[in-house]
Amino acid sequence: MSSDSIGQKTDVVVVGPGAIGCLFASMLGRGENSITILDRCPERAAYIERNGVTLEWGNETHLVPVSVLFHPHADTPQADVILVCVKSYDTEEAAKSILPFIGPHTLIASLQNGIGNIERITGVTGHDRTAAVLTSIGATLLGDGHVRYAGSGPTIITGGSCCKLPGECLAEVIQRSGISAGWHDNPKAAIWSKAVVNAAINPITAVSNVPNGEVVSRPELRDLMASAAQEAQAVAEANGIALLYDDAAEEAACVCRNTHTNISSMLQDIRSRRRTEIDAITGEILMAARSAGIPVPVNESLFEQVKALEGREDHSPTSNVQRPTSNV
Ligand code: PAF
Repeated sequence: MSSDSIGQKTDVVVVGPGAIGCLFASMLGRGENSITILDRCPERAAYIERNGVTLEWGNETHLVPVSVLFHPHADTPQADVILVCVKSYDTEEAAKSILPFIGPHTLIASLQNGIGNIERITGVTGHDRTAAVLTSIGATLLGDGHVRYAGSGPTIITGGSCCKLPGECLAEVIQRSGISAGWHDNPKAAIWSKAVVNAAINPITAVSNVPNGEVVSRPELRDLMASAAQEAQAVAEANGIALLYDDAAEEAACVCRNTHTNISSMLQDIRSRRRTEIDAITGEILMAARSAGIPVPVNESLFEQVKALEGREDHSPTSNVQRPTSNV
């Protein structure tokens, strides 16, 4: 899309009505954009089609009508942009489901946590027109199609070219919907910058069952978060990745302060007895640490604790986060 097409209606397909999918669908849908949600659950798809998406923002409640498809059909319209908002482990399945929406100029954008999602999408679609939208906004899902905006944070768009709506223009479309968004030209640096923050916050909130704000207000959790962030930053640096900030511990603390009431996506997963994204976040960092020979005991311990929690029958979080016993 040339810059003249900014301001025209953008056809957006949002894959997956989870917290962040509903947040972006409702924010973008309040403007001039046309929103179609793709949902693999037929009952929920019918419910959201009937009731729209409800967005709670401070004291305001917005009801945003959207179209919802359970399955794309023969005359599925081609989208300007497809926002992939599913869990990282569902990416391949989501990528298959979007094939009918992809036209010659469609931009596909991963709005997901973790490392490797762009590769998972392009592995299925074969298109290199894939961007990443990396957001630190807090979004808490309150029910089907019902989301609460739970704190501001930067949103960075990276990658995506040769589309009707290139990544830079997507940044402007998102910005106009009321979400502060910018463009960055180094996908690897931007994706790692978000993953390092997630690795520092999400496992701690999941294991200790606390909203983001408590990770900075409780000294023992704040120290643990700082150690996890510093280890992950060292791994990024050892792999030649220059993060978009100087101090990962301070960056993670800042995200926690801005989203203090938010229940992190990993804790939402644990509470809903879903698999978490620990493999795509901390798991990827552990693999990169191993190949660079960097010790990461805090991240290893958090990884194990989240895995143990996922494996528990009742899936309920514990309240005692454990520090690793050595090298810290
Ligand atoms: O995964 C999440 O919950 C979010 O990415 C973040 C930034 C940690 C805010 O809660």
